[in-house]
Amino acid sequence: MGAHHAITRRQVLGMVVATGGLAMSGGVGPVFAQALKRTPGEILGPFYPVLRSVDRATDLTTVKGKSGRAAGQVIYAMGQVLTVDGQPVKGARVELWQANAHGRYTHPSDTNPAPLDPNFEGFAIQDTDAEGRYRFKTIKPGAYPVGGGWVRPPHIHFDVRGQFNRLVTQMYFADEALNGKDPLLQASWAKESLIAQVLPPTDKEEADAQLVVWDIVLIQG
Ligand SMILES: [Fe+2]
Repeated sequence: MGAHHAITRRQVLGMVVATGGLAMSGGVGPVFAQALKRTPGEILGPFYPVLRSVDRATDLTTVKGKSGRAAGQVIYAMGQVLTVDGQPVKGARVELWQANAHGRYTHPSDTNPAPLDPNFEGFAIQDTDAEGRYRFKTIKPGAYPVGGGWVRPPHIHFDVRGQFNRLVTQMYFADEALNGKDPLLQASWAKESLIAQVLPPTDKEEADAQLVVWDIVLIQG
């Protein structure tokens, strides 16, 4: 790595810090920090939606053609897709799928007896904007049992495709007691980077909503 590149990275990191892009990282340490840590992958899991609408959508709390609203805590799952150099990845395809508030996926393979929610399908897809940002309105998924006494903590599955990299992973919520007992999360080599911050809403969201902020780091974008 030549001096020219090091300076460039410093400048980029400084810029990102100034715009709040690294608010999630808990501080970048010394200004000569070389790179962000890439977000680790996790398994796809059995409930990736096969039957689904391909509409781009940012609001999962209502279903087209129905008047009701999904049950559960409204959240805005949002953040920025970045490269390890701190550059925003614009136009990345961000796909997410998740259980409903009762811990049940709208998927024929889910044998959890928890109820389906007629106002929630749990799948959406959008492209990041020019600053690499994504933002979905959804509900906080419930925890669900997977057998043998193992209960998965609330999590949202993500499939992120940039120009060069694809990342399949899972995002978790801060301060969940089940996080510490989840073998999948605990097996990750960078589990802290899979845990989103949960913040109060700004005046742009509903007063009882929560912001769930999580940046996603791809190697090259
Ligand atoms: Fe899951």
